[in-house]
Amino acid sequence: MRKVLKESEHLLRLVAVFAVGLVLFLVIRQAIVPKGFGEFGHYRGPALDDIAARPISFAGHATCEACHDDQAKTKAAGKHAGLSCETCHGPAAAHTEDPTEHAVMKPDPKVLCVRCHEADPARPKSFPQVVSKDHAGDTSCIECHKPHSPLP
Ligand code: HEC
Ligand code: HEC
Ligand code: HEC
Ligand code: HEC
Repeated sequence: MRKVLKESEHLLRLVAVFAVGLVLFLVIRQAIVPKGFGEFGHYRGPALDDIAARPISFAGHATCEACHDDQAKTKAAGKHAGLSCETCHGPAAAHTEDPTEHAVMKPDPKVLCVRCHEADPARPKSFPQVVSKDHAGDTSCIECHKPHSPLP
């Protein structure tokens, strides 16, 4: 009998290790899996409330156009008509609520224009693109192109 016990000791130790592992797993899982997980399969229902509670950062171009009539008109008549203000100026909801307190980024043309227009074989051929070094050298793009209506 003693011999059997002695021989099964390593098995018992193994079972103990697994048991401790299982308990640890359940405790950690309880702590890190967020509330509501599993309610709708893998979708976490309360995620909707979390997302809805986030502050709004984009105002949408219609809001900008209400105050910046000039830029809106210029843009609507030009080749950039399809671009939204905040595509270039960045999220500006705070600015729309208090324009003097929250300034809007004036994008740096050096960085901005080439992001969309630098020649790249991955872009469709029909999209206007330039090799900026050959096209402009060190001259800023907006010396020749107005950002809100890039072709006259
Ligand atoms: C409620 C009216 C109002 C709305 C809405 C508004 N703006 Fe303005 N915006 C202003 C005013 C007023 C100024 C001038 C603030 C100053 O000089 O302190 C200004 C300044 C700016 C400037 C900086 C101009 C400069 O010379 O530095 C930019 C860029 C700008 N707005 C972009 C936007 C964009 C993009 C939106 C939409 C997300 C927007 N604005 C929505 C009133 C508004
Ligand atoms: C293609 C990118 C682009 C889009 C789209 C765009 N802007 Fe601009 N905007 C610029 C750049 C670049 C400047 C800075 C020009 C400079 O430094 O002289 C600027 C400047 C401004 C200014 C400062 C005054 C001026 O006219 O220079 C205002 C105000 C402004 N934008 C508002 C708007 C509004 C409102 C919209 C949407 C109707 C809009 N922008 C859409 C790129 C853009
Ligand atoms: C978010 C992407 C984006 C940014 C940033 C942007 N553009 Fe554009 N641009 C466009 C799109 C889209 C068109 C319209 C293409 C079309 O009509 O097929 C366009 C059209 C143009 C055209 C007219 C080309 C033609 O032959 O019709 C010029 C010039 C131009 N952009 C210059 C600029 C300059 C200068 C800047 C920086 C101030 C700039 N763009 C920033 C997307 C962008
Ligand atoms: C010295 C003036 C000048 C500067 C600086 C300049 N451009 Fe141009 N760009 C032009 C002229 C002029 C045209 C029209 C050429 C034509 O119609 O064939 C043009 C055309 C374009 C076109 C249309 C190309 C096409 O195939 O339809 C794009 C896109 C463009 N420029 C982007 C830029 C960008 C981005 C910068 C800054 C890196 C820039 N430009 C700087 C003068 C300039």
